Amino acid sequence: MKGLRCWLLGSFLLLMLSHSDAMKCKRNMKRGPPEAKKHMKDVFNLLRGNNHRKALEEIECLERTLEATEVNETTSMTESGLVAVLHRPKGRFRGSTFDASETEASSERDVGNRKVRVRLPQELDPGSNTIVFCMFRWPRLNKTLLGISGDLYENRMIGVSVQNKKISGLKERVNITLSLNKSQNAGEVQCVFLNFSTKTLSSDGCETVLEPGESNVTCSCDHLTYFGVLMVTPQLSDTNAEILSYITLIGCSISLAGLILAILIFITNRKVRADVSMKVHVHLAVALILLNLHFLPSNKVATLSSSGPCIYVAVALHYSLLATFSWMALEGFHLYLLLVKVFNIYVRRYLLKLSLVGWGFPAVIVSVVVIINKDAYGSVSLDSSNSNSTKICYIRDNVVKMVTTAGVFALVFLFNMSMLVMTVKRVVSLKSNKFGSQVGQSQWERMKRDMCTLLWVSTLLGITWGLVFFSFSYLTTPALYAFCILSSLQGFFIFLWFAVSLKKIRNSSAQPSSETRSTNS
Ligand SMILES: *[C@@H]1O[C@H](CO)[C@@H](O)[C@H](O)[C@H]1NC(C)=O
Ligand SMILES: *[C@@H]1O[C@H](CO)[C@@H](O)[C@H](O)[C@H]1NC(C)=O
Ligand SMILES: *[C@@H]1O[C@H](CO)[C@@H](O)[C@H](O)[C@H]1NC(C)=O
Ligand SMILES: *[C@@H]1O[C@H](CO)[C@@H](O)[C@H](O)[C@H]1NC(C)=O
Ligand SMILES: *[C@@H]1O[C@H](CO)[C@@H](O)[C@H](O)[C@H]1NC(C)=O
Repeated sequence: MKGLRCWLLGSFLLLMLSHSDAMKCKRNMKRGPPEAKKHMKDVFNLLRGNNHRKALEEIECLERTLEATEVNETTSMTESGLVAVLHRPKGRFRGSTFDASETEASSERDVGNRKVRVRLPQELDPGSNTIVFCMFRWPRLNKTLLGISGDLYENRMIGVSVQNKKISGLKERVNITLSLNKSQNAGEVQCVFLNFSTKTLSSDGCETVLEPGESNVTCSCDHLTYFGVLMVTPQLSDTNAEILSYITLIGCSISLAGLILAILIFITNRKVRADVSMKVHVHLAVALILLNLHFLPSNKVATLSSSGPCIYVAVALHYSLLATFSWMALEGFHLYLLLVKVFNIYVRRYLLKLSLVGWGFPAVIVSVVVIINKDAYGSVSLDSSNSNSTKICYIRDNVVKMVTTAGVFALVFLFNMSMLVMTVKRVVSLKSNKFGSQVGQSQWERMKRDMCTLLWVSTLLGITWGLVFFSFSYLTTPALYAFCILSSLQGFFIFLWFAVSLKKIRNSSAQPSSETRSTNS
């Protein structure tokens, strides 16, 4: 009885094992080179077909078939476009070399027109198992399916595996050398391998070695599977990503320093504090400080594993960007009002009303976005065509981004332009009548200067942050440098604005001035 139970259990386990194997690969019943060749031919046909997913599965299956193929000595096989070697090491294993051309592969001799050479380290010692080498081209390789944005060089894939062994974490690496066409050498290349569990191409654990002056590339990897060489499209490389973080750090820090100094000027000078225009400026400066403060850590936060901080930073960034825009518009409105009311604003709770609009309007937009689509915020790649590029925490939804940032900015810019036009018109008409001459020349000067300043600040702001936030695809390195310079300029400029105002207010305090008093906020 006991024996029977054991036997039943044993055969059940065996069945399960063979079943799970059969689920993946329905072949390798008979195990000789002819069967392996037949499978190679089937794979060849699949590689030319439209069922990319099935082809991918069969590539993995073929590897199993080749591993399971029984040979007594090293055997090379060529079938359709595929070449393979089943290598049976003799004696002590001291590493081995596989060479392959388009039409043949060998582990024992050099082949003509060599395309690929694979060198396996001694550490790989397969014991009495077969080492399998296989190479083919996948003309209809589906880039979406494999999750890549570049081109796989010659659509070539090179597979290496050891029967009954999973090889990973090698100390001495496996080297796969491919000859590149001279013309194609210029492009950036990257070694990738096929991860069968995720069914995507990845580069973890592989180094790409390009010897200067040589027309071939070596992939140095610590594991075995299917490898290929990706012709990488221009992207933010690691060094550029590093430059980006320094650039943001420098630009935003200078900007922040300028803004904070401006606010200090405001806080420490009673006269400046009493000036309504300065109060409006200080709100704009606060919005900008929020923007810089949240932008600085944005790409660091995007690399965190938990999404909570990233969503917070994304929402805060969007809010402060919108607040910056709305305060820019309010600056324009304020200047216009100054002129229309001829330098005597009296609106009840004027600043409170401005603040409600300036800080409330962004809050409304952000709330609406959150209510409509909670997933609109999160980490996004700066370069949308390449998911490996630098990420920041921001708006993920392109429509939301388009409407609520570029759209709002365009409106603000138009609004400020029309404010400018109306101001100029007003100036002209006032100047031509008597009343205008009563208004001091210096006040006209100030008016004009303020308007120009505002235009300059809005343009600067728009371009600076537009570079980062409106860019929908690739952000170029020159753009990054431009961002750094503009961003530091903008903080410095606002500081200058405050400093000049301070001087002006100090100067004019000698003669009593009526301008921009009379507000209870
Ligand atoms: C391997 O060797 C055994 C005996 O030495 C022989 O019976 C068998 O046919 C050989 N297999 C192949 C594939 O050559
Ligand atoms: C592969 O190349 C690296 C250096 O590029 C070297 O250290 C290693 O020994 C090489 N492996 C083999 C198997 O030749
Ligand atoms: C590539 O694969 C993706 C995802 O499996 C599929 O949606 C797409 O249609 C495929 N492309 C082609 C050209 O077959
Ligand atoms: C690598 O380049 C050298 C010199 O250009 C060449 O002799 C060699 O065959 C190349 N290696 C491969 C694997 O093609
Ligand atoms: C393949 O991807 C899985 C899941 O991401 C990972 O655990 C595994 O280490 C990867 N395989 C290799 C060889 O990197």
